[in-house]
Amino acid sequence: MADAASTTTAPVDPDRVLIFDTTLRDGEQSPGASMNLAEKLELARALAALGVDVIEAGFPVASDGDFEAVRAIASEIVGPTICGLARCNERDIDRAGEAVKSAGKPRIHVFLATSAIHREHKLRMTKEQIIERAVQGVKRAKGHCHDIEFSPEDAARTEIDFLCAVVEAAIEAGATTVNIPDTVGYTTPALYAQVIRTLRERVPNIGRAVISTHCHDDLGMAVANSLAGVEAGARQIECTINGIGERAGNAALEEIVMALKTRADYFRVHTGIKTERLFPISRLLTSITGLVVQRNKAIVGRNAFAHESGIHQDGMLKERSTYEIMKPEEVGVLKTDLVLGKHSGRHALRDRVDSLGFTLNEDQLNQLFDDFKALADKKKEIYDEDLIILIEKHMKDTPAQWQLISLHTTCGTNLLPTATVQIRRPDGEIAQDAAIGDGPVDAIFKAVERVTGVHANLREFVVRSVTQGKDAQGEVTLELEVESDTGSYRGRAASTDIIEASALAYLNAVNTIAARQQRGGVVREVQGRPGAGA
Ligand code: KIV
Ligand code: ZN
Repeated sequence: MADAASTTTAPVDPDRVLIFDTTLRDGEQSPGASMNLAEKLELARALAALGVDVIEAGFPVASDGDFEAVRAIASEIVGPTICGLARCNERDIDRAGEAVKSAGKPRIHVFLATSAIHREHKLRMTKEQIIERAVQGVKRAKGHCHDIEFSPEDAARTEIDFLCAVVEAAIEAGATTVNIPDTVGYTTPALYAQVIRTLRERVPNIGRAVISTHCHDDLGMAVANSLAGVEAGARQIECTINGIGERAGNAALEEIVMALKTRADYFRVHTGIKTERLFPISRLLTSITGLVVQRNKAIVGRNAFAHESGIHQDGMLKERSTYEIMKPEEVGVLKTDLVLGKHSGRHALRDRVDSLGFTLNEDQLNQLFDDFKALADKKKEIYDEDLIILIEKHMKDTPAQWQLISLHTTCGTNLLPTATVQIRRPDGEIAQDAAIGDGPVDAIFKAVERVTGVHANLREFVVRSVTQGKDAQGEVTLELEVESDTGSYRGRAASTDIIEASALAYLNAVNTIAARQQRGGVVREVQGRPGAGA
């Protein structure tokens, strides 16, 4: 084991709140949010540029893929602390220690459930055994690095006296951060604040650790609970971009940060977040995962700064502050999203890609430029939304194994919908087949299934217009389920022809299934979830 490094992220400034981002760990546990290595690295780079203090990069013991991702992020990303999650056992902890060891600032996050429900039904351990295991876990982690976070899972439903005892023991064993998870999103702001206050009053060594919040959104109170925690003295908040996460998700980073900034008069604390990067990173996450943000979502929703009513518009024209508490520019929403046209050059494209928060290398930019020109031939005005969809295609680390060459459909009143597809197989050969279906899209999916041999059930199929106007691209997002595993696979594509977009989105998901099957099947969902036997 490596010697303990003497790094810690404990804030020297008592009014500084640390932002701990867990998009790559708790966030990735959202159904359909799985990311590959290149996507995780891309997001980690954007999180570092955003200014988060800690990146929880994954759960290294869950799979070789998780381990590799945490290790790659730890090796590459400079600035934030890089954290790996571990249950309270030697194997998990050593694996997490190995994964984060090359980070400039490594952290191991050890968790063990403490509530009566979890003790009795899941762990079958007594209170004494829990304390002993927690202490052993923190000490084991301490052999890998100095910066250790301990989480009593389901803390919000744990008896307060026992919670105080566990937290005290974990700090005594060397924990530098104690995180208080509301694992099931059950608490309320006043109750959660009371827990944090009690810990500060009753745990004698509490001053030696940073208190952290980790709130889930099952009752829609994750952000309010986290903020109440800060008011009561917590100085780290665990959160995710767009609030993605297990079940209803985690506290949304952008909401927390903007609440603390906009109401600094009230909270009197600050973060190190570059808020103008909030909107770009929200978009980046959507483009990576296909999980679209609802229009009325605070801060990053499409309507967050749109004023519809005449009275509001009139007020805005007279004085913005009548109806606007934040400026769109503060969170990186660009004043106009009309970008480029047929005559725009490579330089203008590069500028726009940068201002949208994406990082493309020269090769990727060249390919993007070709795609951009092809699209500009089909539609006059290219908006940010159009561009983001094109960019997304060039961020994948592996080329698509199955590629659509051409498709032909016939349908109409009193006609049997049929589709013929030509697809390039992974071995380079071109295969073709035809099928009939309930409609042209169904016929295409069946024809693709016949060619690829990948059998999947369609769980969700959504078509939306990417921008306004008759020539707008149609974006198809779909989710496939494969009987042989528990994973769900999202596919996303856009085209000015929605039938083509449907075929491309379906193939996109099929390629993810094929890549996953090549790596030995989906194990994450069954094996790796925190809480499963923690
Ligand atoms: O919600 C939770 O309790 C967690 C822990 C692993 C911190 O995610
Ligand atoms: Zn959680």
